[in-house]
Amino acid sequence: MPRPANAGNSGSQDAPAGRIATNDRSAGRDTLSVTDNRTGRTYELPIENGTVPAAALRDIKTAPDDFGLMSYDPAFTNTAHCKSRITMIDGDKGILNYRGYPIEQLAEHSTYLEVAYLIVHGELPTRGQYEEWVFSITHHTFLHENMKRLIEAFRYDAHPMGILVSTVGALSTFYSEAKSIFDPEARRQQMVRLIAKMPTLAAFAYRASVGMPFVYPDNDLSYTGNFLNMLFRMAESKYRPNPVLERALDVLFILHADHEQNCSTLAMRAVGSSHPDPYSSVAAAVAALYGPLHGGANEMVLRMLKEIGSKDRVPGYIQRVKQGQVRLMGFGHRVYKNYDPRARIIKQIADQVFEVTGRNPLLDIALELERIALQDDYFVSRKLYPNVDFYSGLIYQSMKFPVETFPVLFAIPRTAGWLAQWEEMLLDPEQKIARPRQVYTGSPRRDYRSMDDRM
Ligand code: CMC
Repeated sequence: MPRPANAGNSGSQDAPAGRIATNDRSAGRDTLSVTDNRTGRTYELPIENGTVPAAALRDIKTAPDDFGLMSYDPAFTNTAHCKSRITMIDGDKGILNYRGYPIEQLAEHSTYLEVAYLIVHGELPTRGQYEEWVFSITHHTFLHENMKRLIEAFRYDAHPMGILVSTVGALSTFYSEAKSIFDPEARRQQMVRLIAKMPTLAAFAYRASVGMPFVYPDNDLSYTGNFLNMLFRMAESKYRPNPVLERALDVLFILHADHEQNCSTLAMRAVGSSHPDPYSSVAAAVAALYGPLHGGANEMVLRMLKEIGSKDRVPGYIQRVKQGQVRLMGFGHRVYKNYDPRARIIKQIADQVFEVTGRNPLLDIALELERIALQDDYFVSRKLYPNVDFYSGLIYQSMKFPVETFPVLFAIPRTAGWLAQWEEMLLDPEQKIARPRQVYTGSPRRDYRSMDDRM
């Protein structure tokens, strides 16, 4: 808590708002001295991990009955809302680590399921733990038959993300023990089910949207191999995924597995903080991911590239972006002010995929957009670089994924991250039900008028 100090003992007392004053006498202490110029009182706030506790501001008052100061931070641009041990991003340096392991090493050496284990459990598995984990996930991929009828009830052109939001939420009704969120065994069981069933829900949603019969999971195949099987198998007796495409999808899943406190993770934590079952919280997270500013961006990138149509029309499009008419989708990030490390890896995967599928003609437009943007002052001065979504859509399209399924391909691997973040929130003694404050700017109190008296 802040300690009120003597009025006027700080060298910063006369500093106008926003000006930084120095006080050599306070140097070397992990505290922040703040002078309230309304009262002349100075307070000392603790600094821990580069943050000051927002609750400490509440002691800064003009009178005993004053509510106290709050911090105002729309969109949480400078607010840490939790302590987390899962994912570390250094946005200025373009670094992304899961549980301390650099994303580049995981993408090169690991598999998605191993990374999911790491994210959820905090450590890489031993061989025995890994085999048990893969076995559990593989043997929970089937859905209750009633889910099929639910999926069939959607309109023929329903967006797969809309179906996913609904069906993942509906899963909670099949597992009543899912409400026992403080039982570690029940929690683990739901985590396995969710990671296992997301690809099945996504694949069934897609098959329903194209009027094709559902394909049941094949336990002989890998996580991504089975997903490709459920999406694309036709009349063949055994589906055999192309190993290059299967591995490419696995690496893409690794890159999407977690990304610390983004919009959908915030939704997962915030909804989870009122203690519903995890299926309901994942449904909220999927809904948050759906938007074009988040996981829906990969779909929008592809639509944008198609709209541009040819390389020679790129300068005109860049002009429109700079005039504020449109956004350059797949560019920019709240945290990365450098090249998104995931985009760098995705560019390499693209080359491997295109060797199998043939070069995606939209790639030339994307490369030209990147080339021009990276030397244009509008993008350079705002530190706008390609993000994870800029090239992933091109790979998905070359692998024959319909554009509407792109955000779903983000939701499946992110489920591991959401669940790890959810469990961390539940077990963190500092966390409570999420409940931010507001600055009320509406009408002062007024009396109700009957309709006849209203203008
Ligand atoms: N195209 C053009 N201008 C942009 C873009 C863009 N893609 N992104 C940011 N800006 C400009 C923005 O207009 C603002 O300019 P000014 O200072 O003149 O007002 C400045 O850059 C700062 O932008 P911001 O909107 O304040 O930044 P933010 O941190 O709130 O938004 C973002 C981050 C990702 C929502 C935004 O960059 C964006 O809309 N990008 C396009 C959508 C996209 O690719 N989303 C995927 C994000 S990565 C995957 C994921 O995790 O979801």
